[in-house]
Amino acid sequence: MSNSDIEKARELLISAKYLVILAGAGLSQESGIPTFRGADGLWRQFRAEELATPYAFQRNPELVWEWYCWRRGIIARAEPNPAHYAIVELEKRYEQFMLITQNVDGLHRKAGSKKFIEIHGCIWESRCVDCHNVSEDRETDYKKIQPCKKCGGRLRPNVVWFGEAIPDMNLRKSIYSVQNCDLMLVVGTSGYVQPAASFPFHAKQNNAKVIDINVEPTPISEIADVFLQGRAGDILPALIKD
Ligand code: OAD
Ligand code: ZN
Repeated sequence: MSNSDIEKARELLISAKYLVILAGAGLSQESGIPTFRGADGLWRQFRAEELATPYAFQRNPELVWEWYCWRRGIIARAEPNPAHYAIVELEKRYEQFMLITQNVDGLHRKAGSKKFIEIHGCIWESRCVDCHNVSEDRETDYKKIQPCKKCGGRLRPNVVWFGEAIPDMNLRKSIYSVQNCDLMLVVGTSGYVQPAASFPFHAKQNNAKVIDINVEPTPISEIADVFLQGRAGDILPALIKD
């Protein structure tokens, strides 16, 4: 990455009218939250099919809750990093803006973001498998997970698992912003999980510009107008500096 790449990205940000940011686990890596893929990724250590599918939960809800409560414990100690705060600042600069995040950690809210779509849900919420009621749930001990307060049904984490669809309203809102933006800023995603992975490609087809920030090249960086290789917590603040 050269200074001229940073300059080019800064110019794209200045001329954009409608900014969409697509965020992935790399954004929270500097807050101490493990990513899914790569050398220290969770999917190296754990099997997704045993922990993050509806079938896994049906077969062994306790194991799934144990894993989610372990992750809650890590996330509970984490604070937003400079990249989260830079995104809050960017939101203030655009009348038309949307943050589409694949992260379930709630750090955007904690940093002060207002306009965001958590397309993979939120780890701090539970949903009843029977009555579908969603409630805030900050429990980090899997042995203390209670039944639904409304109907006594079983609670599950309110996140999207492999093989599940993105909730309709979140998907529609995401697609709307992807189709209408003139600049998409992609940060810390490997570009493997659909549908989010296709958003930068759709944006490009609609003549939007794409900036990608990642510590390593991905399929998204190949089609990006500017690829900024490095850590989100270093690069995002540099992009918004006056
Ligand atoms: P991944 O773990 O697949 O990818 C994280 C990306 O962040 C990688 O491309 C890293 O190179 C990059 N990265 C790591 N540290 C970084 C840093 N400090 N700055 C910038 N980039 C960095 O995470 P996602 O793409 O978000 O889904 O994964 C998508 C989905 O797959 C997740 O939401 C989750 C997972 O299975 C569900 O749980 C449904
Ligand atoms: Zn219920």
